[in-house]
Amino acid sequence: MASKSIGIGLIGQKFMGRAHSNAWSQAAKFFDLPVGARLAVVSARDRKELGAFAQRFGWAKSTPKWESLADDPDVDLVDIGTPNHLHAEQALRMLEAGKHVACEKPLARTLAEARVLRDAAAAAGRKVKTFVWHNYRRAPAIGLAWNLMREGRLGKIFHVRARYLQSWGSKSTPMSWRYSAATAGSGAHGDLNAHLVDLTRFLMGEAIVDIHGAVAPTFVTSRAVPGTKRRERCDVDDAALFLATFEGGAVASFEATRLAEGHLNDNTVEINGERGSLRWSLEDMNVLEWCDAEAPPRLRGWTKILATSAGNHPYAAAWWPDGHIIGYEHGFTNMAADILRVLGGKKPELPLPDFADAYETCRVLEAALLSAKHRCAVAMNDVP
Ligand SMILES: NC(=O)c1ccc[n+]([C@@H]2O[C@H](COP(=O)([O-])OP(=O)(O)OC[C@H]3O[C@@H](n4cnc5c(N)ncnc54)[C@H](O)[C@@H]3O)[C@@H](O)[C@H]2O)c1
Repeated sequence: MASKSIGIGLIGQKFMGRAHSNAWSQAAKFFDLPVGARLAVVSARDRKELGAFAQRFGWAKSTPKWESLADDPDVDLVDIGTPNHLHAEQALRMLEAGKHVACEKPLARTLAEARVLRDAAAAAGRKVKTFVWHNYRRAPAIGLAWNLMREGRLGKIFHVRARYLQSWGSKSTPMSWRYSAATAGSGAHGDLNAHLVDLTRFLMGEAIVDIHGAVAPTFVTSRAVPGTKRRERCDVDDAALFLATFEGGAVASFEATRLAEGHLNDNTVEINGERGSLRWSLEDMNVLEWCDAEAPPRLRGWTKILATSAGNHPYAAAWWPDGHIIGYEHGFTNMAADILRVLGGKKPELPLPDFADAYETCRVLEAALLSAKHRCAVAMNDVP
């Protein structure tokens, strides 16, 4: 077990707060790491729930004042799991205080905000590390896909097909921070396309150079405010679709929605190259599908690879015997382990996104919104 530990300060204690708390407390139990994680302090605004949450997940302290984490000597890394409008203010404050920051996605509401964060991370110097929770990179099957692509097993890439379909956004879903541009920035786009853009940029190892067209409609224009008789206006997209080109010439389609009945969490990426195709879907997240275009025609077809084999599949050695599958939360734990590796001076098992990298994802998201707004193609060179 690691003798040194990194003090974690977490902001947010709901969905991501739970996922991150679990990840920090599990990482050093399953991985051999140069440094461990100490659950130093958790902060959130729901005062009534905070104490019980801290106790349940093993946080040493709790506070409703997130600003206090900046001056807390027990905190080395601040983990931001709050709504999108708080990311910039909280991350900037913590970077100024010299803390490492791990921020939830999307990095920011707008490209302008993301740029400020990218620049602040650069100004903080090389000793201060930043990370963004694009957790799907760390599914072992995605890690296998990344390795196969680095080995050239797909050859030249022709198509990238990425879709993230959910169904929780019907008109009966009440108002929340997720439906307002002031708090979320965008809707399905920043929420779901952010993951797809990161995942495809990561797998391809290439930049997106053009957006050819996009649509980002709002279908549900107002929602009931919980606990009142009022309704509030929704001004973010419920769905966002766009076409793009990668710098190597591959064409790509992106589709995100919260209104696809029958799809609970259908995050699916398919890549077609001259030597074969790869396909992954979160709803069967341990499996990577591979079609080898060089197999004899009578055997050619989709092969299902259960990416659970130690030594063969990233992260698998830390978990269970072959075929003993892992789940959603393990992506966060695998990422916490890689963050701790980096903070302990070692290499992550797979590359981690920092603020500069997440800024590039935000640029693509911004270009798609510009394309939808102005009904035109957008060259990434025109998006600073
Ligand atoms: N990586 C992923 O797969 C993934 C999944 C879901 C959400 N997210 C991202 O995580 C972030 C949080 O989403 P969530 O689903 O956990 O939201 P949530 O609404 O479930 O939780 C938000 C938390 O932020 C706290 N909070 C709100 N305002 C605050 C303030 N002013 N000061 C301190 N704390 C405050 C709340 O108390 C709550 O604990 C968002 O950026 C979202 O996009 C990422």
